[in-house]
Amino acid sequence: MPSTSDEELIAAAVAAREHAYAPYSAFAVGAALLCDDGTVLSACNVENASYGLTICAERAAVFAAIASGRRRFVALAVAGPLESVTPPCGACRQVLTEFAPGLRVLYTQKDGFQSAALADLLPAAFELP
Ligand code: THU
Repeated sequence: MPSTSDEELIAAAVAAREHAYAPYSAFAVGAALLCDDGTVLSACNVENASYGLTICAERAAVFAAIASGRRRFVALAVAGPLESVTPPCGACRQVLTEFAPGLRVLYTQKDGFQSAALADLLPAAFELP
């Protein structure tokens, strides 16, 4: 299985960001999800005139992966605007936890990127009893 470095995963997120549809916020986001079979699924945020219908890049990537038959994820990279630090929003953290509570999350910041464990980003995820 070809391995994907953190830098390559960030590069995939940065590339996916180019496709973002964000005419309302002008906040373009790209995400790249590394699956345990080595596949990388990329996605971007897609906004809507009915604002609440917007989908974040991270959830779009997870849903694309699930639809492709992949459910085991190793790492996620998120790329936002250069001047911002862009960790996943709370909703995306919850969705990611559903499939990959042990996920590593990489996200861009002004200079390069930083990494965190998903469990540290969402320490008390909702679970059905
Ligand atoms: N957004 C993402 O794609 N991911 C996040 O984790 C946070 C926010 C998008 C949603 C919306 O299109 C824009 O960024 C501004 O909130």
